[in-house]
Amino acid sequence: MHKARKIYLIGFMGSGKSTTGKNLASYLNWSFIDIDDRIESIADMKIQDIFSQKGETYFRQIESEALLSTLSESDTVISTGGGTPCFGSNMNFMLENGLTIYLKMTPSDLERRLLNSPDERPLLKDIARKDLRKFISSKLTEREEWYAMATIIADGLNTGIPGLYSLIKNRIRE
Ligand code: S3P
Repeated sequence: MHKARKIYLIGFMGSGKSTTGKNLASYLNWSFIDIDDRIESIADMKIQDIFSQKGETYFRQIESEALLSTLSESDTVISTGGGTPCFGSNMNFMLENGLTIYLKMTPSDLERRLLNSPDERPLLKDIARKDLRKFISSKLTEREEWYAMATIIADGLNTGIPGLYSLIKNRIRE
């Protein structure tokens, strides 16, 4: 079996991709890249400003560019944005070039985590708190089609870093 030198973490907003990514990278002694940070440095703007001033289509172009820029990396854990796998050929790119892990969570766990999260997320800014669960459920249903293509599907809430490592150890090059 071909052993991966890159790990792509995918999943809904609030599923802990960045925190898990950082922790997994340090556990493996690998590097870490956050696609949202890379988008901000390519565009030289904050994510919220890209959405509000340039629009989502432009954001998705930069997002694909940021993802493609990871091609040459190795021994790297990459956390993606919640929408990254769902646009263009991003999911195929990740499947071909690394090990994809979906951090899966239920809408109620995501709702709780997003309500407690200080991040300003452009897709959530116009959603009232009372409508959040409904929004998450329908967006998740829409996106699950891509998320479910991941090679590894992990329980995002209950799988710690050692648990994640045991799911992937035979598939990565160390
Ligand atoms: C998005 C998720 C965000 C960020 C942008 C769009 C999405 O990343 O890329 O706001 O479409 O779900 P996180 O999943 O890290 O919040």
